[in-house]
Amino acid sequence: MSDVITEAVLARLGAAGAVARPQDLYAGPGTDFYERLVGPDRAEIREVLALARRTGGRVLDLAAGGGRLTVPLVRSGMSVTAIDLSDDMLAHLRRALPDHPQLECVVADMRAFSLPARFDLVVVGATSITLLDGIGRSLLYASVRRHLAADGVFAFTVAGGSSAQSLAVGRDYEIEVPGQDGDETYLFSQQIEEGGAARLVNWVRISDLVVGGEVTVFTSRLRLLDHETLSRELADAGFAEPIVSPVRTAHGEDILLLTTRCAQTPETADDDVAAA
Ligand SMILES: C[S@@+](CC[C@H](N)C(=O)[O-])C[C@H]1O[C@@H](n2cnc3c(N)ncnc32)[C@H](O)[C@@H]1O
Repeated sequence: MSDVITEAVLARLGAAGAVARPQDLYAGPGTDFYERLVGPDRAEIREVLALARRTGGRVLDLAAGGGRLTVPLVRSGMSVTAIDLSDDMLAHLRRALPDHPQLECVVADMRAFSLPARFDLVVVGATSITLLDGIGRSLLYASVRRHLAADGVFAFTVAGGSSAQSLAVGRDYEIEVPGQDGDETYLFSQQIEEGGAARLVNWVRISDLVVGGEVTVFTSRLRLLDHETLSRELADAGFAEPIVSPVRTAHGEDILLLTTRCAQTPETADDDVAAA
């Protein structure tokens, strides 16, 4: 039994007489699949651009991937540093904006990075904070604090409402994914694990399910998190209570944008009073 393949996918493979070749969603061929999966998705871009226009200055895009958010930020005139653990994902971004003077790509872990700059806006899009477990998130918060300019803004997204509910139940259904020669049908499989704390997700192309086949199964594992939990974590990590606002999406998904800054320490608050 593989710990990255859902029971439903194992059953489908078994019934077809095929075996799984697990493939991380964010490495090698997984990155092409991810780009096809989310390519046309413009969610969060409007909100992140609006934030960047307000903060001005330098933007740090964490878990930037192929640059779904980075590319519009750079095109709107921002200087952006894009961090991702996967060089394969960043390769898509480099191809989209080759040698762009306002883009810096850094292969690094968002839990532990060290850059010589401070940023006016640090953003984690596409609910990628859910890729991290609790320890990973506290490391992320500490790294972000070290890299925020005075009065810099930290913003990230998480599912809310009915979308969060739909992520918390196991389900298996077919989806159409754009391919080079038209749409391809994939089985999407979601299995809830760790007593409801995490979900394992798989995608497998239906036409690959053939007798004796070794079938690529794209996999990822994500935490199930709500904005209340994340708000508490932010307070514990020294951030102000976040502003929670809805993100407008084309398909009506509930996505929430959490926006915060470093909390004022009593000393800095006293300084503000003295300066007033
Ligand atoms: C859901 S994608 C988001 C990509 C992009 N921001 C977007 O909006 O489409 C998640 C990205 O997080 C990256 N990632 C996963 N764990 C990471 C980590 N610990 N540090 C940095 N990046 C990570 C993956 O390689 C992947 O590119």
